[in-house]
Amino acid sequence: MPERMPYIAGNWKLWGTRAQAGEYCQKLLALLPEPSRRPAEVGVCVPFTSLEVAVKALAGSQVLVLAQNMNAEETGAYTGEISAQMLLELGADGVVLGHSERREHNGETDRALQEKVPAALEAGLRPILCVGESEEEREAGDMERKLRHQVGEGLHEVPDERIADVVVAYEPIWAIGTGQVATADQAQEAIAFVRALVGGRTEEAAQAIRLLYGGSVKPENAAEILAQTDVDGALVGGGSLDPEGFARIVAAAG
Ligand code: 13P
Repeated sequence: MPERMPYIAGNWKLWGTRAQAGEYCQKLLALLPEPSRRPAEVGVCVPFTSLEVAVKALAGSQVLVLAQNMNAEETGAYTGEISAQMLLELGADGVVLGHSERREHNGETDRALQEKVPAALEAGLRPILCVGESEEEREAGDMERKLRHQVGEGLHEVPDERIADVVVAYEPIWAIGTGQVATADQAQEAIAFVRALVGGRTEEAAQAIRLLYGGSVKPENAAEILAQTDVDGALVGGGSLDPEGFARIVAAAG
């Protein structure tokens, strides 16, 4: 079985002026161990306007810098959009795709994600594809159906040999920003199901792909969730905005 390097990514969402981003990155670097002694790969997902500052501040630190969205097209009549090439030009390493907040507030669709995920990979960006059910869907027993649909669509156009280069974050909508973290068992169950779905494409990719949990991860609950067999890391929202807390979550991956 391949060793899967844990991955802890902080999603700043709508936070972080350029000044705040620079200050945050300095603080975070002072708190993280040397790259070779880190128990996890670390990434920050920052607003477009702070990408350049974060890339500069984190240069040589092996902390990855990700954007929070992109368009699948390279150019065209898409006002307000940003392409993979534009992100690469700023030095971004990856991009978050299909976050539930973008699905809810910005009309992000599985159809668009079918194009965005392979477009990011082809351009050389490492995508984090977000999936997860709402509270109503969970209560109606529809979690698996929802995950099967989202994972199936998001990876549909990704060639088998590139699937393991995608990271999938399972973020149950009811746990995002609510303080209501999934139990370790719930996280394990859903993420094992996602791994089985990937196994429906290729077993090799299922063993290699990294699957994260997201939703109210804090320094206090991170270790238990990260200890689950199929949980390879965390996508942390509010808990990542304090560099000290975020560094503690990284340490919990050890
Ligand atoms: P919170 O950690 O604030 O619940 O957010 C999770 C999330 O949406 C990360 O992408």
